[in-house]
Amino acid sequence: MINSKKNKIWYGGDYNPDQWEKEVWDEDLRMFKLAGIDVATLNVFGWSKNQPDEDTYDFGWLDEMMDKLHADGVGVCLGTSTAAHPAWMARKYPDVLQVDFYGRKRKFGGRHNSCPNSPTFRKYSVLMAEKLAERYKDHPALLIWHINNEYGGAGNCYCDNCEAAFREWLKERYGTLEALNRAWNTGFWGHIFHSWEDIVLPSGLSEEWPGANGRTETNFQGISLDYMRFHSDSLLECYKLEYEAVKKHTPDIPVTTNMMGAFKKLDYHKWAKFIDVISWDSYPRFDTPHSYTGMMHDLMRGLKDGQPFMLMEQTPSQQNWQPYNSLKRPGVMRLWSYQAVARGADTVMFFQLRRSIGACEKYHGAVIEHVGHEHTRVFRECAQLGAELNKLGDSLIDSSFKAKVAIVFDWENWWAIEMSSGPTIDLRYVDEAHKYYKALYELGVAVDVVSVEADLSGYDLVIAPVMYMVKQGVAQKLEQYVQAGGSLISTFFSGIVNESDLVKVGGYPGELRKLFGIWAEEIDALLPSQRNRMILSEGASGMKEEYECGLLCDLIHSEGAEVKAVYGDDFYKGMPALTVNKFGEGEAWYLATSPEQAFPKDWLAQLCVSHGIEPFIHSLPEGVETTIRYKDDQQYLFVLNHNDETVQIDLGETTGIDLLTDRSLDGGKHELSSHDVMIIKLKS
Ligand code: GLA
Ligand code: ZN
Repeated sequence: MINSKKNKIWYGGDYNPDQWEKEVWDEDLRMFKLAGIDVATLNVFGWSKNQPDEDTYDFGWLDEMMDKLHADGVGVCLGTSTAAHPAWMARKYPDVLQVDFYGRKRKFGGRHNSCPNSPTFRKYSVLMAEKLAERYKDHPALLIWHINNEYGGAGNCYCDNCEAAFREWLKERYGTLEALNRAWNTGFWGHIFHSWEDIVLPSGLSEEWPGANGRTETNFQGISLDYMRFHSDSLLECYKLEYEAVKKHTPDIPVTTNMMGAFKKLDYHKWAKFIDVISWDSYPRFDTPHSYTGMMHDLMRGLKDGQPFMLMEQTPSQQNWQPYNSLKRPGVMRLWSYQAVARGADTVMFFQLRRSIGACEKYHGAVIEHVGHEHTRVFRECAQLGAELNKLGDSLIDSSFKAKVAIVFDWENWWAIEMSSGPTIDLRYVDEAHKYYKALYELGVAVDVVSVEADLSGYDLVIAPVMYMVKQGVAQKLEQYVQAGGSLISTFFSGIVNESDLVKVGGYPGELRKLFGIWAEEIDALLPSQRNRMILSEGASGMKEEYECGLLCDLIHSEGAEVKAVYGDDFYKGMPALTVNKFGEGEAWYLATSPEQAFPKDWLAQLCVSHGIEPFIHSLPEGVETTIRYKDDQQYLFVLNHNDETVQIDLGETTGIDLLTDRSLDGGKHELSSHDVMIIKLKS
């Protein structure tokens, strides 16, 4: 449980009374009560108010607000407020200001605006965290610390302090310049470094430039990869310093910082080790596939081995920062809230509780709209959900998720794939992972999204898409997993480089060659308009004879693997496109290209059957999502209808009670309205 003071699904969100006159506060509290809101995230951007100058701290408003909330039974997720430094600090200590990609020193403005290696920022952010912890350590409303906000949310820093810190970081990583020169292959283009001082940050002034598709291109992947690691580590260091500062005074209060799903800049697997409870901000667009949101929840749950996480932010209605900010249709906010709960969230929280009147988020949805009263569609929907979450009580708290299938997701691999010069600019790691996730999601099969360091032994099937970067020890680990009976799938452009982006010579897929029993001799990149075909050697039931494929095609030779499909076109027609290698007790599949979506769905359906991996419920209608959360001996089956129409759910033999309606369900067929949800406590 996140905090034993509140043993139910927390309900609330970001609340900024510091932007309002006090007259409004009591009105807010009245409406919180009506909506069933019992947690408020306070002080996320309060730094300039709480510290008007270097020597003055004034927490008057916060004292008062914490007391008021507590008196009303609302707990506090307390921000340390360090995601935007005060203007006086920027003027007095310019080292807090970042230098951008093109070497321009920024002025005060925006947020996420501090240099992570600024001595001033580190000193004053830690001081602030410590002052807050000292002040509120015994406050009964305090439930959890919210350090900073969405780390990495703005640009990276390229200042002299960062450059100096980068050199120190490199010394730590490589020890000697020789090792560094080797890792970066600096013999290329005459880059050999003879002094640490000669190393500069990779930026728009040195090795990098903005490419197509939001990519950053680089001459030297080794340097650029290390800068990404370093930058993620620099921000992590800032987080850790604040973590320690609050823990000093409140060792028993959990600590979080809000993450952003598949957010590229930060290696969240590394971060997660220092976070007590994972929390994240979910902002799907109106056209984001539900399976993608599902994958993000699973990715976040996987950061701490399945431990329940917090849905820290979502909008009750609309966002402001997309080009077109559609409203969530009636019922959708509730549906998406339960989607998070179904996948492991123990909180449902919003940005924001009251809509602000000025600056760029005034058109961002809120529980309390500009009209200021509760007679709105959004408020009514929020209040309905609040009442339901109260009714659910502690039933789902701390329940877990069980999956027999895992998808491996690795940030460093992602970085390396998308800074690679060639073979294609269209390869997007997250999309490739989503292709397999979506197939399993539609089959209604439970998936964990795990790090490359995770223990795989409990999974029957592991999918490691585009294992381009094979870090030390990973090949052996995968071999052991398959040897012991596991089934592994990897896809094209795998086994190419080590963690420094240096090619493993001797034939692709390098260290994975033995495991997959193949050799990839060449890799063809297809134009967006070009397709090849995969022709299946034997039609398995439920599978077509051929499927389209594209993007990249590895030209592989079998070295013992059984060929299951071959290419249908081009000069490599007839070469293997899909192989399976028996290895020890298990099998290793290699899919040499990127298939159309129909293929993973048909193929994984077969593999799940042959591995005895069951869906949550059979014959799931399209657009219906299911999961099970397990608590002690109890199982809770979630059924979520994402369709705009009513669907029929066939529960088969499954019986139980729908916790939301108290309806008793004795198997068979049941109607589920558009955007409606069932949480069925199964009869054991
Ligand atoms: C993020 C931030 C919030 C707010 C919302 C708006 O999640 O953490 O402060 O800006 O976006 O969508
Ligand atoms: Zn800097």
